[in-house]
Amino acid sequence: MGKQHYQITVNGEAKDILAEPRELLIHTLREQLNITGPHVGCETSHCGACTVDIDGRSIKACTVFTAQVAGKEITTVEGLGEPGKLHILQEMFKEHHGLQCGYCTPGMITRAHRLLQEIPNPTEEEVRFGIAGNLCRCTGYQNIVKSILAAAAVMNASQEAAE
Ligand code: FES
Ligand code: FES
Repeated sequence: MGKQHYQITVNGEAKDILAEPRELLIHTLREQLNITGPHVGCETSHCGACTVDIDGRSIKACTVFTAQVAGKEITTVEGLGEPGKLHILQEMFKEHHGLQCGYCTPGMITRAHRLLQEIPNPTEEEVRFGIAGNLCRCTGYQNIVKSILAAAAVMNASQEAAE
């Protein structure tokens, strides 16, 4: 079967994609749309470097065909902050040294973003379990976990202040 048109929404923008049915979402994002936050680590669903959010769930973009996400809303790390303003998770990763080489970081932050919606006030154990599908070769996870817990604390405090 040849290329076909698919409509997907990425970071709030509708995109018309021409792709073969076998094209993986990670390749559509990086090569067609130039959205290079999601990284290719293993392409075998192990590392989580390619993690994106699809309709409110963390999904590894090397495990789905673009054809399967037609009509769905996809959020990548590029869609988390605002122009000129980092998301609080990005701020906390910066402040608490939650990254070294940075290769896992876009997937890790995108997963953490969804995790904090699933569990707004997680324990350390819940954070560690929640990011178990994302591998980091550099940090030993200590500072990643610290960054996510710090972001949760800031988000909860600002939520309480708003109430
Ligand atoms: S590149 Fe997708 S899980 Fe590793
Ligand atoms: S910061 Fe290098 S792989 Fe995580």
